[in-house]
Parts: sequence; C-alpha cells; structure tokens
Amino acid sequence: MSRKVALVGATGSIGRQALEIVDAHPELQLVAAASGSTPVDGLAPFTQVGGDVTELLERSEPDVVLNAVVGFAGLPVTLWALEHGVDLALANKESLVAAGALALAARARGGGRLLPVDSEHSAAFQLQEGAARESIHSLVLTASGGPFRGRTRDELADVTAEEALAHPTWSMGPKITIDSATLANKGLELIEAHFLFDLPYEQIEVVVHPTSIVHALVRFRDGATLAHLGYPDMRVPISYALTYPERSATQVAPLDLASGLTLAFEAPDVESFPLLRLAREAGERGGTYPCAYNAANEVGVAAFLEGRLPFLGIADVVEETLALVGGAGARSLAELVEADAEARRLATERLKVVA
Ligand SMILES: NC(=O)c1ccc[n+]([C@@H]2O[C@H](COP(=O)([O-])OP(=O)(O)OC[C@H]3O[C@@H](n4cnc5c(N)ncnc54)[C@H](OP(=O)(O)O)[C@@H]3O)[C@@H](O)[C@H]2O)c1
Repeated sequence: MSRKVALVGATGSIGRQALEIVDAHPELQLVAAASGSTPVDGLAPFTQVGGDVTELLERSEPDVVLNAVVGFAGLPVTLWALEHGVDLALANKESLVAAGALALAARARGGGRLLPVDSEHSAAFQLQEGAARESIHSLVLTASGGPFRGRTRDELADVTAEEALAHPTWSMGPKITIDSATLANKGLELIEAHFLFDLPYEQIEVVVHPTSIVHALVRFRDGATLAHLGYPDMRVPISYALTYPERSATQVAPLDLASGLTLAFEAPDVESFPLLRLAREAGERGGTYPCAYNAANEVGVAAFLEGRLPFLGIADVVEETLALVGGAGARSLAELVEADAEARRLATERLKVVA
C-alpha cells in the first residue's frame, strides 16, 4: 500500500537517512520536503525552504509527516500533524518536551498516531506494544555517556566544541551531539518518554551503556525485563516509523552476538553532567518548566558552539534560567511561545554573567 511522506528537515542527519529509507521502499512516496535554509529543489513535488511549512503540509496531503527539524522550530510541524490526524514520525523531541500537554491534547483531537523516531523511544514503543499499562514496572532509557563519560567536572572545564562534537557511537547533527556530550539529550528524552508513554518520572530510569547496543528496556511487574538490541543506526527507527506497522527490511546488519558484544551498564554521573538532573526536576515540576529547560539549553548550546560559553556554562545557564522563570502551564500555543521566548531572554542575559 502506498504511503505519502512529508519530510521536514530533509537536509539534516535524520532527513538524509530518511531519504535513503524512502528511496529503498517503492511503497513510500515523498510528496513534500522542507529545510531551514539549504536548497531542496526537485527533492519532492512540494518543497519549501524556511518559513511556515503548514501550508506545504496542507497542499501535499501526506499520510505521514516525519518531523526531522532541530529544536523548538519544529513545533508547528508536530502540532499540525497531531491536530490533523496525520501520522507523526517524531525525531524532533524538543517540540514534545516543550509542548507536551498541548501536543497530547492535539493528538486526542486529531486521532493520528505518534510514532517515535528517537532510537530509545522507538525501542520502548516496540517493547510496550500489546502490554497492559498496569503490567509495566518501569522503563529504562540507555545513554552512551557521550565523548566525556568518566570525566570529572574539573576535566570538563576546558573542553572544546570540536572535542564535544566527536561522539563515540552515533553520527548526528551538531545540536544533538552537544546535547549527548552534556547528557541534556537524555534529559530531553526522559521528558519525551514521560509524554509519549504516559509514565510518571519515577518509573523512568536512565542508565549509561557505552556501546549503544541496548536502546531501551522495559521491566514488567512479573519480574521479566525485555530489552531492544541492535547496532546504533538511525535507519532502523526511521524505517520502523515510516513503514509502521510493518517491519520492513533495511540495509542494517543483523546483530552478531558471537563477535563479542560488550553490554555494560552504569549509573549516570549527574555531578559532572547536571543537565540530566535538571531535566528530571523540570519535568517533575511540570507546567512550562520543560519548555524553559529546552529553550535555555538551545541558547546555551548555540553559544558553546560559537565559542562564547564554556562547556559547563551550558548547565549553569539552564539552571539559572529555571530558577528565574514562572513555569506556569500554558493554556494556549500563544502562552507556550511566550514561555519559550521569556526563557530565551533570561538565558541570553545569563550568558553575559556565566561566559
Ligand atoms: N541525528 C540523529 O541521529 C538523531 C537521533 C535522534 C533524534 N534526533 C533528533 O532529530 C532532530 C533533527 O536532528 P539532526 O541531527 O538531523 O539535526 P541536523 O542535522 O542539524 O538537521 C536539522 C534539519 O532541520 C532543518 N531546519 C532547521 N531549522 C528549520 C526550520 N526553522 N524549519 C524547517 N527546517 C529547519 C535543517 O535545515 P538546514 O539544512 O537548511 O539547516 C535540517 O534539515 C533533532 O530534534 C534531534 O534531537 C536526531
């Protein structure tokens, strides 16, 4: 059966891998492609660079929208798909983190499916399929630990953007690679999992697993734990989301167990990497605290990449911003956009102090 795909963020790391998946599947038909500023002419019947993509989505009438935009800028795509009952393959975790309650309300109205593309959430989604909610004891998300795993705070003081961009197991866009180095990525994923799976934070654990072979585990109330394993390759969750509920073939090799896999796990170091702790606190406080966490982190990461902020300053900016925002829940998109803007203003002011 043919499936019409709209791909927003087509020129990024996820976007390019999604194009590979679409090319390999005759039943997937790319009807729209959009980017922030890189040309996408000729990639699909409907294309757009920058600006509001909702009209492009309306005109192209997709069956599934893959949101591969980076950052809060992906919010209109998430809300459009959920509101219109069009399946949403979601890589853009920031939109769900910032607008969780509004997004879930839009999904309830629209009735479409929300299919996670983040590898851990795709794994957790697959592990929970068919399981009764009350049978789940807890969800475990794995983190590679990033390039600085094992370092103390002192050893992180002078790390450069170049060092932070050298991720040990995943090849990704620059923002998420820095988020992986600070563990903010796992913090965002914790909040994402809370909204995706309707689990309270105390039922979601994060463990460090350096080889990124196990993507998630679900513990059940009978003492059984199921794990999802595979080589770290985003084509697997992208393909799963685009061809759901079929599990189509990919070019990714089957797991070779006899070659000697290391499946080690350890607790995350929240002293050296406080952004994981701050995400949990923001998530538990609820309201627009997760939105502020995300906004301040985006400001901090951009400043770090531009050499205007030290690595540890990213967490300082986020912590100080969270202490200053009101955090009340957003009743409308306008209120959410205002909360995001306010957090960005405060974070930008903190940059001057922290840098
Ligand atoms: N990369 C991964 O392996 C991975 C894994 C899990 C989750 N994710 C998530 O997937 C998302 C994308 O990550 P990525 O690594 O693919 O990022 P990326 O390589 O930086 O690509 C970002 C994409 O978003 C586009 N974009 C930026 N601003 C836009 C806007 N305002 N409107 C429309 N498009 C816009 C960019 O267009 P231009 O080329 O014109 O800038 C580019 O196509 C992030 O939320 C990330 O957390 C990524």
